[in-house]
Amino acid sequence: MNQLTFPWAGIERQALAFDDESTPGGAAIDVSTLPTEALSGGEMELLRSWLNDEENGRAERFLHGEDRRDFVAAHALLRMQLRDRFPDLLFPATIAAGEQGGKPRLSPTGNCDGGTVDFNISHTRGMAACVTAKDHDVGIDCEPLARKVDVALAEACFSQLECEWLETQRSLTPSIAFLHLWTLKEAMTKALGTGLTIDLKTFSVLPFPPRLVETSPDTGAQRRWAFWQWPSKDGFILAVAARDRDT
Ligand SMILES: CC(C)(COP(=O)(O)OP(=O)(O)OC[C@H]1O[C@@H](n2cnc3c(N)ncnc32)[C@H](O)[C@@H]1OP(=O)(O)O)[C@@H](O)C(=O)NCCC(=O)NCCS
Repeated sequence: MNQLTFPWAGIERQALAFDDESTPGGAAIDVSTLPTEALSGGEMELLRSWLNDEENGRAERFLHGEDRRDFVAAHALLRMQLRDRFPDLLFPATIAAGEQGGKPRLSPTGNCDGGTVDFNISHTRGMAACVTAKDHDVGIDCEPLARKVDVALAEACFSQLECEWLETQRSLTPSIAFLHLWTLKEAMTKALGTGLTIDLKTFSVLPFPPRLVETSPDTGAQRRWAFWQWPSKDGFILAVAARDRDT
């Protein structure tokens, strides 16, 4: 099954760390990205072999082959990274789908070497991405920079501070400025585990540098957050959010 050594050609991997380097062991947050357009039939077959029955069943239900490909790539990428980064986890680890829109978790436990493992994935046409971490809650989002956004949506989903930031951007197109905010916000909601069910106006994030600017107590303000954001060379924007785990 595991005929590919991780990370294989095409996968880009980076290690992220909180600025103050207080995370024991250094880089505790790992991100992998895999552009999917150029994946061969053979590579897809191998990726598919990493999925469990539930994931394979979900993959079957996609109407478009591209969406199925990206789903398979993201789920396989995650499993490869978990196996590589946390070899002490019991494998094949079961990834339990979140109940009613909840965050998927490792099941029965993500305990590894005295810590707890969290993960998150994102897939969009042409790109799969995953983040894994020990002792942090993590979320990731990726979007194509070419995506045309209806910026009129900003008022519905961005806080006043974020809307003001959008209006003052001169060097970015409105769509690209929107995507900078959106991916940060979505990554944060995915780290929280609420997804987009949370009231998106209850917190403000800003890019350059990516950061949490204001928040209500419900969004874990008392804990330390860190954000990263970068454009990929293939034309996607990625954002990762992490916060210290409840102790
Ligand atoms: C989770 C959510 C933010 C995903 O947004 P998206 O841009 O469409 O998709 P992405 O590719 O970035 O992320 C999808 C992955 O996020 C993960 N995810 C799902 N729910 C999540 C949650 N609550 N928190 C964190 N991650 C979640 C899953 O692994 C999912 O991948 P999969 O569908 O292949 O298993 C969005 O769908 C959401 O808010 N869902 C919650 C609301 C909901 O689902 N309501 C229905 C209730 S029945």
